[in-house]
Amino acid sequence: MELKDKSVVVGVCGGIAAYKVVEVVSRLKKLGADVDIIMTANAQKFVAPLTFRSLSHRPVITDMFDEPEYWDIKHISLAKKADLFIIAPATANMIGKLASGIADDMLSTTVTATKAPVMIVPAMNHDMYSNAVVQQNIERLKGLGYIFMEPDTGVMAEGTSGKGRLPEPASIVDMAVGLLKPACDLKGLRLLVTAGPTRENIDPVRYISNYSSGKMGYAVAQAAAERGADVVLVSGPVSIGAPRGVKLISVNTANEMRDAVLKEFPDCDAVVMAAAVADYKAAEGSQLKIKKSDDDMVIRLEKNPDILKELGNIKGSRILAGFCAETDHLVENAMKKVEAKNLDMIVANDVTMEGAGFGTDTNIIKIIKRDGSVTDLPLMSKLAAAHKVLDQLRLISKNEIF
Ligand code: PMT
Repeated sequence: MELKDKSVVVGVCGGIAAYKVVEVVSRLKKLGADVDIIMTANAQKFVAPLTFRSLSHRPVITDMFDEPEYWDIKHISLAKKADLFIIAPATANMIGKLASGIADDMLSTTVTATKAPVMIVPAMNHDMYSNAVVQQNIERLKGLGYIFMEPDTGVMAEGTSGKGRLPEPASIVDMAVGLLKPACDLKGLRLLVTAGPTRENIDPVRYISNYSSGKMGYAVAQAAAERGADVVLVSGPVSIGAPRGVKLISVNTANEMRDAVLKEFPDCDAVVMAAAVADYKAAEGSQLKIKKSDDDMVIRLEKNPDILKELGNIKGSRILAGFCAETDHLVENAMKKVEAKNLDMIVANDVTMEGAGFGTDTNIIKIIKRDGSVTDLPLMSKLAAAHKVLDQLRLISKNEIF
């Protein structure tokens, strides 16, 4: 009875995947959780409330006003009672409402009123899922601390294939258990994480940078904070929000990142550098916009500091983990960086592989330790990959540091 004494509120929206949520509820109940269910009006067209009532042994909440004994306080009492909210399948409509602060039915009202973690499991047609507005809403909610589970890729109800399927019930319940009972195995660790690109100005309107979105480094920061670590995140310019409980220091250039990192370094036990630091900057940055002329232009670049290499020289007993983005000879190049920068481990991603590297929500990584051992991992979400990196970091520490 792993979830005994835990209260989970499951919000079911109108989508064909609603039938899979029946199994989610059944599994949660078997683990001992106390489960309440809220169904939207459209959800009831896919699955009868009676099915959920039979499994949860509770009245299913279907409308703000249809249960007079509850209606005036129910959304507040459920919002307070919940240890975790799960919204599955979460439709584009519900995601849009939550992102805009619209509370016009029982589910959106209760979620708006809760302080519990909210786990959102989107499921919809893949074109809808990739729609720019839906993606913006998801990013906005992530930035506000809502937790998303990536949809699966595969054949959809309408016969086409793509990303948008509800993950298997067992995976949804695994993630819920992880959120309800986080392993605080990194408690006591003071972790410094870097993320995102750096931006090197050429003039006031142009810069040199790269495609890093910050997602990988932010996932490391989020995973570490969830596992109890004290996390400082030094981030280049990105458009995602800082994970809950993490101290964020925002920078632009490699030199600013270096200054921030060196300032935080003495107080940390370990560093994970996922940032894609620009290796070069314009040697003569212009204060004024450079005017177009009829001639070609040559911009002389000078080297930026290698932040991780500097840390390698002064690391002491700290654990240093780098990342490396490669297009060829992944392990060979990664191993050279371990030596050159005096690292304990490096996380190598081949950025030519689909689903890996810059900008994606997923990654395919190899974790390479100083002793040459390689942990080769398949495609997974950046958050899952982050946990794997932290598992290895913890093994290296042998509990001597934290
Ligand atoms: O941000 P996302 O869109 O999620 O993308 C993730 C990522 C691809 C950026 C990430 O997974 C990744 O690979 N980050 C490191 C990219 C990189 O710059 O690799 P590198 O091989 O150039 O550098 C090796 C290591 O040295 C890195 O830890 C880097 O932070 C560090 N470095 C590099 C240059 C420099 N001047 N100073 C540094 O500290």
